[in-house]
Amino acid sequence: MQLEIAQPFSQTSQPQAAPANPLIGNSARMQVVRALIAKLANSKSTVLITGESGTGKELAARAIHESSPRRGESFVPINCGAIPEELLESELFGHVRGAFTGAVNARQGRFQLANGGTLFLDEIGEMSPKLQVKLLRVLQERQFEPVGSDHTVQVDVRVVAATNRDLQVAVREGKFREDLYYRLNVLPLELPSLRARDGDTALLIRYFLKLHGRRKGKPILGVDPAAMALLGRYDWPGNVREVENLVERLVVLNEDGVIRAGDLPDYVATNSVPHHQKTAEVSLPHQGVDLDNFLERIENGFIQQALVRSCGNKTLAAELLKLNRTTFIERLRKKAMLQLTRRAVAADGLAKIAGNGFSSAEPFSDRRDAAGMPFLAI
Ligand SMILES: Nc1ncnc2c1ncn2[C@@H]1O[C@H](COP(=O)(O)OP(=O)(O)OP(=O)(O)O)[C@@H](O)[C@H]1O
Ligand SMILES: [Mg+2]
Repeated sequence: MQLEIAQPFSQTSQPQAAPANPLIGNSARMQVVRALIAKLANSKSTVLITGESGTGKELAARAIHESSPRRGESFVPINCGAIPEELLESELFGHVRGAFTGAVNARQGRFQLANGGTLFLDEIGEMSPKLQVKLLRVLQERQFEPVGSDHTVQVDVRVVAATNRDLQVAVREGKFREDLYYRLNVLPLELPSLRARDGDTALLIRYFLKLHGRRKGKPILGVDPAAMALLGRYDWPGNVREVENLVERLVVLNEDGVIRAGDLPDYVATNSVPHHQKTAEVSLPHQGVDLDNFLERIENGFIQQALVRSCGNKTLAAELLKLNRTTFIERLRKKAMLQLTRRAVAADGLAKIAGNGFSSAEPFSDRRDAAGMPFLAI
């Protein structure tokens, strides 16, 4: 077995990192996060970032890289949840020519592209057991073989991983290797939900108002006190991403430079989203339910409605469903809904996207139980 040492990227061949927002937030919890990032940055050990969706895990990973001695080298992100297993292996480790059908040329993987810099493994909890084994070895030895090769490649990569799943639960359920969990969790960084960040919501709203106001050529003057009070009371289940999306929408729709209470969506004004998220308002039918089938129909229905509402724009549809764009597209692909999206939306809206014409409302019948909950129509 021959050992190759991957060359660090030169300045000219270095992929351009997307410009990132600075980490906004002055709450006590965010001050702890910032201090921890500064400390972690100087180490080469693996970091595991956890936190709810939209709390800024990717931003924190970039901040770690930018504060580290590796800042002049590449920051290479990869979303492990959005790429099918066979492709993910070659994305991570590269492949030789002819390694599999379609591998016309040899290709370097992300580990090699990140040599000298930082590799960000997003949604690590979604990685298959086979790749978990391979990743464990790289983390231990910083060595791997590209797909189809017996040449061992040695890299100098700092790994930062992130997940919004509880990996300890996944370990208990046998879905995630315990040894890999400990290898990843050397330096844990937990990002708090926005609900736990006193005062940060107002700060973020002002920051995004300025940012999107500038981008859209609309300098917004401000948010009136009544609107700010409602925004402060809202629970933000989608965390910072939800703040950014809502502010962007408010900027686009605004005409006179002031955001008022009446401009806010009803679910924000009434803070009604979390209630619906805690428990679906359905009663278990007398005869039971085919749970997987039922949940899939609800999921397909919501996907379908999000695509219609966003006129087939997958980025906006993913935002409506609080999903990563890449995760959303992968889910569409698995459901064979990808090709159908734009055509079906343009043609006649709701019914045809999934080819089966259901909507998320369909599983619920008009009948209600004594507490006013709809029965499942099955
Ligand atoms: N503290 C913050 N200050 C400014 N912008 C932020 C902050 N946290 C998050 N954002 C912005 O919110 C959006 C979501 O952040 P990010 O993608 O890092 O979240 P995430 O935790 O990785 O979410 P997911 O689990 O859904 O992938 C991004 O546009 C990011 O720039
Ligand atoms: Mg993310």
